[in-house]
Amino acid sequence: MERIISLNREETFKTGEKIGEKLSQGSVVCLFGPLGSGKTLLTKGIAEALDISDEITSPTFTLISTYHGKCDFYHIDLYRIENEEELHDLGLTEVLYGDGISVVEWAEKLGSLLPPESVKINLKILPEDQREILLEGIDI
Ligand SMILES: Nc1ncnc2c1ncn2[C@@H]1O[C@H](COP(=O)(O)OP(=O)(O)O)[C@@H](O)[C@H]1O
Ligand SMILES: [Mg+2]
Repeated sequence: MERIISLNREETFKTGEKIGEKLSQGSVVCLFGPLGSGKTLLTKGIAEALDISDEITSPTFTLISTYHGKCDFYHIDLYRIENEEELHDLGLTEVLYGDGISVVEWAEKLGSLLPPESVKINLKILPEDQREILLEGIDI
């Protein structure tokens, strides 16, 4: 497990870029951490490394956004998911077990759909805009 302290938003974005450089087709990145901890910002860094030219916006209302760069890229935000039924209606299995790269915000809501091989990243808000970023399943 690797522990990074990010001092500002740029460092979190750059951490995302480094993560993105290490991913390959089929990778799933599970993000954990409270609102405002930097999950979407980290995702923007990952997308940058994957040559996604479209702007990454928070998919809070759409739940899944699809982008195309070096490979298909899926940005999933489960914040609004309230139960297993809603989760299963999303049809995530194909996405998570397909050839693209997926990033999942609020990944704890995946429950049994959470792929065992996934990269797990925990973000924590520290004082003075700092963030603790714990990486599991990836070396950057
Ligand atoms: N070190 C930091 N890392 C990440 N975000 C930071 C940092 N310092 C301040 N911020 C701010 O915190 C917010 C993080 O928002 P966002 O990435 O949308 O979080 P989440 O998706 O986890 O809700 C942004 O407004 C960002 O500018
Ligand atoms: Mg977010």
